[in-house]
Amino acid sequence: MDDPVALLAAQYFEQVDPPNLTIPDGPTLVTPAIQNAIYENMFNEDTAWPLPPASYQTRALKVIIARLEEAICDPEEDEILDSLLETWTSLLSTPRSSALEQAQKLTYIKYTAPSSAATSESTESRTIITSENRSLILALGTTGFRTWEAALHLGTFLSTTNIGQSLVAGKRALELGAGTGFLSFLCAKHLGTESILVTDRDPTLLEQIDDCIGKNGLEKTKIRTGIWEWGSPLQVPSFSHEDESGTERGPASFDIALGADLIYDVDLVPLLVSTIRDLFDIYSLNEFVISATVRNEDTFRTFLDVCGKFSPPARLPLTFQRCFSSLLVL
Ligand SMILES: C[S@@+](CC[C@H](N)C(=O)[O-])C[C@H]1O[C@@H](n2cnc3c(N)ncnc32)[C@H](O)[C@@H]1O
Repeated sequence: MDDPVALLAAQYFEQVDPPNLTIPDGPTLVTPAIQNAIYENMFNEDTAWPLPPASYQTRALKVIIARLEEAICDPEEDEILDSLLETWTSLLSTPRSSALEQAQKLTYIKYTAPSSAATSESTESRTIITSENRSLILALGTTGFRTWEAALHLGTFLSTTNIGQSLVAGKRALELGAGTGFLSFLCAKHLGTESILVTDRDPTLLEQIDDCIGKNGLEKTKIRTGIWEWGSPLQVPSFSHEDESGTERGPASFDIALGADLIYDVDLVPLLVSTIRDLFDIYSLNEFVISATVRNEDTFRTFLDVCGKFSPPARLPLTFQRCFSSLLVL
């Protein structure tokens, strides 16, 4: 990303912690053109959307203004743009919500999809919008209100490697335990996936994902949601394949299923593995790609053990074995 404001804006819309933002160097930052680009692309609500919460904007602008002040050597010649100073004043007078309210509130986050070197797409055209709260680890009984590192890493693998791209391009996909739906949006919007069914057990998460399908400009013919609690039947209205006369032709099938950060609770492992097994047995799955953050070696080992016990390795269908060859350990 050569454009210094594009990089800064991409980090800002992902709500990167302000001290870690990549601010252009001093001589670049003080130029009116760069300051104006920062205002228009990051703080002007008529031209930038979705703006981060006021508390985050305030922290980010504080860092930018501090850098500007450091960079101004000759106050006669250089100055901070009025539009940035007015935004700063207005942010300071915005009533603050309590720390508790802020910690519970969902906001739209705009990610920039990773790109392979070959793409000439602008950062703005590679966006993915989710609804989440970066500071929520567990809320309303689910860990799905934020996008986890395992999903970001799997997204990078699918976007930037030939193997990753070929796994999802033109394929009928399904995501298990989707959380914010980040991976499904990436596949549907940027990686040429034919269709994707986004599943999770939590209806509130799926409502957020349904809202973001529209925010990402996607059609429900390409991406839709369904409740799937592992170990229970998949719940999607009229999910069965129908022919043109409306006659049911049996369960739908998927080419590939994705899962990120699903191996964190040892009690859930048997249900997860039996659901993966159902995908191969009932839904004609060819590939399952799972990415995991190994927080606890024992839990991860249990996952591998349960996969092995489900059926002796020699009798595992080839497709199920691929589960292991596609495992990304982060
Ligand atoms: C750690 S989050 C990962 C979310 C997302 N895949 C990511 O990486 O950002 C785990 C997700 O699995 C879902 N989940 C947990 N147990 C489940 C179950 N038994 N059936 C279906 N989904 C489940 C949670 O609701 C949550 O969205």
